[in-house]
Amino acid sequence: MTSQRTKKLTLAAMMTAILIILGFFPGIPLGFIPVPIIIQNLGILLTIELLGTKYSLLSIGLFLVLALFGLPVLSGGRGGFAIFLGPTGGYLLGWLLVPLVLGTILHILKQHQHLSWWLEFIIVVVAGVLFIDLIGSIWLSVQSHMPLGTALISNLAFLPGDIIKAGLAVFLARRLRKLPSLQTIF
Ligand code: BTN
Repeated sequence: MTSQRTKKLTLAAMMTAILIILGFFPGIPLGFIPVPIIIQNLGILLTIELLGTKYSLLSIGLFLVLALFGLPVLSGGRGGFAIFLGPTGGYLLGWLLVPLVLGTILHILKQHQHLSWWLEFIIVVVAGVLFIDLIGSIWLSVQSHMPLGTALISNLAFLPGDIIKAGLAVFLARRLRKLPSLQTIF
């Protein structure tokens, strides 16, 4: 029988592949901020929702290592060390850290209660979307010599799309967790 660990590692590898596929979609430039609207962060949130802290850290970490070594896995087929020092570097750091924050909060709450759709959604928005945007804005302000307030306000442009992506991640994760083949993993 396949061990739980092997199943989780397989799912982690599958989520890395999904993150790479989402990178095929080019970003939509906004003009007033050097950060595009992308779809890849939907995959980041879904990975954490499905895998929890440890294995999503592994999956997202592997994805970021591939990007760091220059594989064209970031939105629009980009990759390379320079991107990590560019205006979007803070969001990439946020992607690495968010499993620790969101994954841990979800884990603690799920141990004590059954999470309703709404509560899970709000947690993903606050500890996932807003956390990534905060780290991204802080680095953007440093890197682009922009006041932090301006960087934070500019990030409001991402919120409508990111809230939809959070809703989609929660919806998909709650559906997928019910699949018999995945139920044994969680
Ligand atoms: C990159 O490919 O260099 C990272 C892009 C980061 C884009 C951020 S993620 C959070 C926010 N929502 C978006 O749609 N875009 C930004």
